[in-house]
Amino acid sequence: MKRITEFTIVERRQYGEKYFAWTLRSPEKLQPIRAGQFVEVEVRDCADVMLRRPISIQDFDLQADTITLLIQIVGKGTRKLATLKAGDSVNIIYPLGNGFAVCGNNPLLVGGGAGIAPLLGLAKAYRAKGVTPTILLGGRTEQLIPARECFEGLGTIGFATEDGSLGERGLVTQHSLFGGRYDHIATCGPTPMIKAVAKIAHERSIPCEVSLENMMACGVGACLCCVTDTDEGHKCVCKDGPVFDSKKVVSMNE
Ligand SMILES: Cc1cc2nc3c(=O)[nH]c(=O)nc-3n(C[C@H](O)[C@H](O)[C@H](O)COP(=O)(O)OP(=O)(O)OC[C@H]3O[C@@H](n4cnc5c(N)ncnc54)[C@H](O)[C@@H]3O)c2cc1C
Ligand code: FES
Repeated sequence: MKRITEFTIVERRQYGEKYFAWTLRSPEKLQPIRAGQFVEVEVRDCADVMLRRPISIQDFDLQADTITLLIQIVGKGTRKLATLKAGDSVNIIYPLGNGFAVCGNNPLLVGGGAGIAPLLGLAKAYRAKGVTPTILLGGRTEQLIPARECFEGLGTIGFATEDGSLGERGLVTQHSLFGGRYDHIATCGPTPMIKAVAKIAHERSIPCEVSLENMMACGVGACLCCVTDTDEGHKCVCKDGPVFDSKKVVSMNE
């Protein structure tokens, strides 16, 4: 069930200039969460930011009642959020969206940029089912693949950077691990990346889930500002997604 909750930041970590992560504690029992769901974060005391900002739940701990968010600083809202510190409170609506299906016995998880975030919870969900995923993380440079240490021990991990500063030089789709015989692919990140991943998945007839990051306003299916075209008509990314079967999303098949 969706909740509006005043979380407290219990830990803040900085990853280079562009990224930071929060561990946030809920004052009440954490709602059940699925990997791939997201939150809407209120940006306080920022005159020109009226709307909450959607951020994926990177990880969660139902025992400790904590969630973790990994945030890229891109504009006014995230710049303001970056100024908050441990002890500060943050108003959050959660859990939102559908989440990943967590299927297949030999899955490939592909993330780029801030799209790496929801793949951590997904990798853990696979491990909880006794499945070891292959995890491929990409970025322009090593600095732009944040919080990668969190994936250690969760699967076979590969990195692709455009400048070769970490892992193999090139795009995630050019990485040697990308050619494996997978039975499911899940991907989140910049649109050109997830589109390229989906295209290859379609060519190889591998079921593929894409997590879309369309601009959002309400986050709960009321304003229709986040719609995407699918073979079943317009769908709200916030309510019907953000995770979709790539075969059904028109923009992933153009
Ligand atoms: C379901 C979902 C999950 C997301 N998860 C994460 C996450 O885990 N970590 C994270 O860092 N970001 C995530 N994002 C993106 C994040 O919501 C935006 O980066 C953020 O709202 C930008 O707010 P801002 O005020 O800093 O930027 P603004 O000042 O509003 O915009 C600055 C720049 O960022 C661009 N921008 C704004 N929103 C988006 C967006 N949704 N997608 C692409 N570009 C955008 C604008 O076009 C503009 O160029 C997610 C988005 C969605 C929809
Ligand atoms: S953000 Fe309002 S309907 Fe999706």
